[in-house]
Amino acid sequence: MIDFKAEAESLRDELIARRRDFHIHPELAFEEYRTSGIVAEELNKLGLEVQTGVGKTGVVGILEGAKDGPTVLVRADMDALPILEKNAVEYASQTPGKMHACGHDGHTTIGLGVAKLLSKHRDELAGRIKFVFQPAEEIVGGAKAMVADGVLQDPRPDVTLGLHLWNSMPIGKLGVGDGPVMAGSSIFTINLTGKGGHGALPDVSIDPIVCAAQVVTALQSIVSRNVDPLESAVVSVTRIQAGTAYNIIPQDAELWGTIRTFKNEVRDRVENRMREIVDGIASAMGCTSTVEIVHKSVPVRNDSTVTERGREVLRQFVGDEGILTTERTMGAEDVGLFMDDIPGLYFFVGAAVPGQTEYYGHHHPRFDFDENALPLSVALLASAVADYVIPTATGA
Ligand code: NI
Repeated sequence: MIDFKAEAESLRDELIARRRDFHIHPELAFEEYRTSGIVAEELNKLGLEVQTGVGKTGVVGILEGAKDGPTVLVRADMDALPILEKNAVEYASQTPGKMHACGHDGHTTIGLGVAKLLSKHRDELAGRIKFVFQPAEEIVGGAKAMVADGVLQDPRPDVTLGLHLWNSMPIGKLGVGDGPVMAGSSIFTINLTGKGGHGALPDVSIDPIVCAAQVVTALQSIVSRNVDPLESAVVSVTRIQAGTAYNIIPQDAELWGTIRTFKNEVRDRVENRMREIVDGIASAMGCTSTVEIVHKSVPVRNDSTVTERGREVLRQFVGDEGILTTERTMGAEDVGLFMDDIPGLYFFVGAAVPGQTEYYGHHHPRFDFDENALPLSVALLASAVADYVIPTATGA
């Protein structure tokens, strides 16, 4: 029997110091050289078998047990965001324009904490744990790069486990939903071509701006009129680019945006309607159009068996009232790519900043989280992992 809570608690000071160090030194996608260097060094110190440069700046550490058994993949992401931090804390980012504004500094710290805690129980371990420190989650590219470099092979994992600190929920609450919990994302680029001319002579021009305005409005009808009301979807136009002067009707307009859905069928429906609407409006307005859609990430889908098993373990730490089964978000996460292949559980750990009068969410320049969530998360994740590979590890 392992007392996960006490063992994680004994790492508290180290966890907080490490998280603050990562927070002070944020690194953007595929540039996590300092971070991954620290990760590799720490895993080496713990005696894990370490591979670096997996998916450019990713690190994999394998903790091999004394006996044979299943392989558990534990995933932590490492990258920061291009945001100028506005927090006046002693551990604020020292790199202007870069900030850990999503909690990945915490995730990397937690991953190392779990490795440390479980490496002390190596003798009891039946199987192995594959710690995957992933780069470039924020641009949705790190998981793909690591998969391309063989992270899901040799040894091939049996289960994927991971967590995201979630500062919209108080500490003690966990989001442990079944099925899709984070949306799949696609990006789109719409080009509209009219006929440029003088701003004073619209009758001899074809105005792509008026066409773009109609397209933006009409796209709003996809979610409200074409998607099953019991399903979820988002279509957001996030950028419009056209024109150069007060008195010129431009030749072209370009729209960018994102599509989010939990199901591929819904995504396909949204995309088909988008193409039809753009094509129809453009031709009605005398423009020509192209629509380019790129699928960026698949939904994060929790496997029902792994989720049920995980809930039983996590419940011991937070009680029934701490387990929220309905927490979902239209935000995307490329851990879904691992979980598409290897069944898994990705859960949210409440980490709201105590006493905050105004809420600053993920990706906000004043984002922060409750550091009490660090030892708790180490206990939760270590115990969820141990449930697969340490037969004697029962109880919280
Ligand atoms: Ni994140």
